[in-house]
Amino acid sequence: MKKLVVLSGAGISAESGIQTFRDSDGLWENYRVEDVCTPEALARNPELVIHFYNERLQQVLKAKPNPAHTALVELEKAYRVQIVTQNIDDLHERAGSSHVLHLHGEIRKKRSSVDENDIRDIVPIEKGIQMGDLDKYGKQYRPHIVFFGEAVPNIEPATRMVEEADILLVIGTSLNVYPAAGLLYYARPDAEVYYIDPKADSNGHLDKRIHCISEKAGAAVPELVKQLLEKA
Ligand code: OAD
Repeated sequence: MKKLVVLSGAGISAESGIQTFRDSDGLWENYRVEDVCTPEALARNPELVIHFYNERLQQVLKAKPNPAHTALVELEKAYRVQIVTQNIDDLHERAGSSHVLHLHGEIRKKRSSVDENDIRDIVPIEKGIQMGDLDKYGKQYRPHIVFFGEAVPNIEPATRMVEEADILLVIGTSLNVYPAAGLLYYARPDAEVYYIDPKADSNGHLDKRIHCISEKAGAAVPELVKQLLEKA
């Protein structure tokens, strides 16, 4: 079976009702990254950062996988599929994808700020992270999110996955945030690369060999999946 890697971003979940970051109605229009998504912000105002991510969690809990997430599961019938997502939602998992690697963390989890291996599910999930929820060092649990300025621990396995891919699908990302955006350039010269995003033609400086599909994921992903299954 051929290896197929999906690199997904906020756009794949847009039609599920989860806001993207850099579109005109995106999150970074209403919030400043430096107020809610940096280690300094967490140290300065943990209530605000935790409140911001608890709001994101509420949005995710209300959302359901859309036809793009669901179609990617079908690919597993004919390909070895690995999803590498920048998203912190769990819609790929809820759709049924078997192998999902999160680059920027997971909204349903909390993490110790002292021991980065102390990662736990938020319980009860509906309440989000509570102020006063302390780790064994007596420190407030933080969202399990990779903030700007922090290392991306999963970038190394993700790079290896992309290097081994026969087919790479890049879906719903502005390709603005590194190192995730740079993963594309690890694709083998003979790999087939597709980029589905309404702004595919204008985002970034893309290689000519990339097949750009400038459409929404909800319609374009099921169509591409159908074609890939036919030729597998
Ligand atoms: P962006 O908000 O930067 O980009 C979203 C992309 O989705 C844009 O290129 C849109 O054109 C596209 N889009 C919108 N609706 C779509 C649809 N229905 N179907 C397909 N595409 C659609 O989001 P990301 O590239 O994922 O990081 O952002 C990367 C990182 O920046 C995020 O993981 C987050 C953010 O700051 C952290 O929080 C660490």
